Amino acid sequence: MDDLKAKYLTLIADAADESTLEDLRVTAVGKKGEISLKMRELGKMTPEERQVAGPALNALKDEINSALAAKKAALADAALDARLRSEWLDVTLPARGRGRGTIHPISQVMEEVTAIFGELGFSVAEGPRVETDWYNFDALNIPGHHPARAEMDTFYMHRAEGDDRPPHVLRTHTSPVQIRSMEAMGAPLRIICPGGVYRADYDQTHTPMFHQIEGLALDTDISMANLKWVLEEFVKAFFEVDDVELRFRASHFPFTEPSAEVDIRCSWEGGTLKIGEGDDWLEILGSGMVHPKVIAAGGIDPDVYQGFAFGMGIDRIAMLKYGIPDLRAFFDSDLRWLRHYGFASLDVPNLHGGLSR
Ligand code: DAH
Repeated sequence: MDDLKAKYLTLIADAADESTLEDLRVTAVGKKGEISLKMRELGKMTPEERQVAGPALNALKDEINSALAAKKAALADAALDARLRSEWLDVTLPARGRGRGTIHPISQVMEEVTAIFGELGFSVAEGPRVETDWYNFDALNIPGHHPARAEMDTFYMHRAEGDDRPPHVLRTHTSPVQIRSMEAMGAPLRIICPGGVYRADYDQTHTPMFHQIEGLALDTDISMANLKWVLEEFVKAFFEVDDVELRFRASHFPFTEPSAEVDIRCSWEGGTLKIGEGDDWLEILGSGMVHPKVIAAGGIDPDVYQGFAFGMGIDRIAMLKYGIPDLRAFFDSDLRWLRHYGFASLDVPNLHGGLSR
């Protein structure tokens, strides 16, 4: 038995791979293996012999089994080590210099706005750019005859003759995402919706496609005061200033009541914009308390829930923050412009590390 033990333990120690190990297992402790055959011989022994040989054989079998298991684990470890060595790569190597891509200022600003509102507990919601006129208008309390429909210079989708699906438009604002989010998530709700919108208009401050960010907060105890605080926090963080003064100007939107346009105090002295000082006012967004009809259109009970909403032009606040004079340049795809105004692709904006460094 000592010979058997020495033989197999050496063979196991020397096994170079798993299949050799498996062969060894079969020849040693397999059904017809050497140890198993020996165990069968126990039957021919005298009871006294058996009392000694039986436990010894069992112990030998256990020892070989655990040697096999230990070796198997060691081989697996070695295989993993070898693989890790052969697949090694230096992730600290600097990127190749020929990559010239930059983040577009609009993407950058969307990331910045998302980071700020994320910190305030808002999550990001999205909706389709091709929208039904119900979501884009009716559900937002803009019925068919309403002048706002005409004012928005809407692009209507072509309809084949006999197509009786509801009319589709290119969404003229991100507000329809309010309805879609209410339907999908119910209340309470805190979301922002950044995205592209479309209106038939083109000059230095208008392009047929531009970007907005919508905000919506619904709960059982939300007031105008919450709206003011949230917007103040946002403007301070976004323009990276310690103090701002906001002016809420009474206004009218069909989907809010009351409605307010929000201006921030600024100065244009010397041709550069300074936020928070001076005698000028800069309009940055529309807002208000969500109209009960809009809340109901979203499938939520307006007698239980109320809230605020706002909508803001992303392109416009990007122009203001980064001193970009002509809106149309955003969409010209001029590489020289993109290199000048673009942002490094690895600098993801976050509130603590600095939004726009
Ligand atoms: N949807 C409006 C627009 O495109 C902007 C807006 C104003 C959105 C007030 C709102 C709001 O959510 O409360 O001009």
